[in-house]
Amino acid sequence: MEKFVINGGRKLSGKLRVESAKNSVLPILAASILTNEEVIIKDCPKILDVLNMIRILAFLGVKTRFSDGNLIINSSGINGYAIPQSLSNQLRSSIFMMGALLSRCGKAELAYPGGCEIGLRPIDIHLKGLKNLGILVEDTGGEIICVADKMCGGEVYLDFPSVGATENVMLSAVTAKGKTEIRNAAKEPEIVDLMRFLNAMGAKVYGAGTSTILIEGVEKLHGAVFKPVSDRIEAGTYLIATAITGGEIELENCSAKNISSLIHKLCDNACKISIKNDIIYLKSGACRKSFSFATGPYPCFPTDLQAPLMSLATVSDGVSVITENVFEMRYRHVQELVKMGADITVSGRTAIVKGVKRLMGATVNAHDLRGGASLIIASLNAEGKTIVEDINHIQRGYYEMDKKLRSLGADIKKKN
Ligand code: EPZ
Repeated sequence: MEKFVINGGRKLSGKLRVESAKNSVLPILAASILTNEEVIIKDCPKILDVLNMIRILAFLGVKTRFSDGNLIINSSGINGYAIPQSLSNQLRSSIFMMGALLSRCGKAELAYPGGCEIGLRPIDIHLKGLKNLGILVEDTGGEIICVADKMCGGEVYLDFPSVGATENVMLSAVTAKGKTEIRNAAKEPEIVDLMRFLNAMGAKVYGAGTSTILIEGVEKLHGAVFKPVSDRIEAGTYLIATAITGGEIELENCSAKNISSLIHKLCDNACKISIKNDIIYLKSGACRKSFSFATGPYPCFPTDLQAPLMSLATVSDGVSVITENVFEMRYRHVQELVKMGADITVSGRTAIVKGVKRLMGATVNAHDLRGGASLIIASLNAEGKTIVEDINHIQRGYYEMDKKLRSLGADIKKKN
């Protein structure tokens, strides 16, 4: 298994361009099968989750190719609506294919999705939402079989503002006869991006970014050329990595408003931050002050930055209190940070982090995508050598992370 080897203690400094958002590109890839015409996703990141989603599309007869960093998709030859477990369990996003296949083929057969082990990650809200649209859903205890013969617009109430469930219902409703209203919808920027993409294909979606999304079903969707929103989680990860090393960074292709909750926390930590158009400039403060935060659905603090920001808390003066309200098992990085000398105690959903002067290099394991990123961040501060194993988790969502960190002055190498 590949690993990263990092020698800590170097200040990060320089410029970086943020990729297009993983969590926007993935549902957009699913949505691209809703037309026979060509779709072009500009600046598509070649991260593992995208490559796995492309494998699912290829299995269904969809043609894709990269050209100058753009992904060109042609679904005119789609020839199936069933996704085998070997493909669907590679990533959580396979679940979005359900809504898209129901729109395109009127049927969908899918084994339970995979993804980061950060909780049970049930799909009950997805299935309830699709049933509200008249879709027949059968759960054979491992495989979901859906039929859309009677699919029509309707009122969907999500028991929790689930990002994936909101997106799945949107993907079905755009071609369902009549109007659909999704209440208690997720408000993440990636939901807004999916609405922008669907409308670029000729759909009629309104209100994404609020808790009520209105959709008027249309007969047919056409091709589109689309540039996804930038990755707010990747941007946040590099801002935190810079702060923990006492360095400075200029991030391009950012949308500061999409990570305003993190920016506030980094200012609490005594970082100096300035924003100009799509550029965020951060200079870390002379000392690192403790801070507290609780994750929640957007616009609350994003759960995907909980682990990365916890690393900064481990070497910030004083006690930081972190509460994870979205996933019930998103503290697997804690045991790894403790191996590096962090002082963290977890009780239920709350982690109490007592700042230490500096972390120590160690051999640690990435258990999931963002937990792995938190270990890389911690290693940049640590004294001596850190080995981060199982980095395939990290490569699911960060493109060339080692190369980018080296360009900022870090001593990091990928090893087999
Ligand atoms: C999306 O996952 C993101 N993934 C996650 O990012 C992100 O952490 C999450 O939204 C929350 O923002 C993608 O977009 C590909 P949810 P998703 O449905 O859709 C419960 C990363 O690191 N729930 O909003 O799976 C669920 O268990 C990844 O990039 C149900 O109970 O998240 C969780 O506790 C990790 N039943 C909560 O809702 C359901 O049917 C939020 O999940 C669906 C969800």
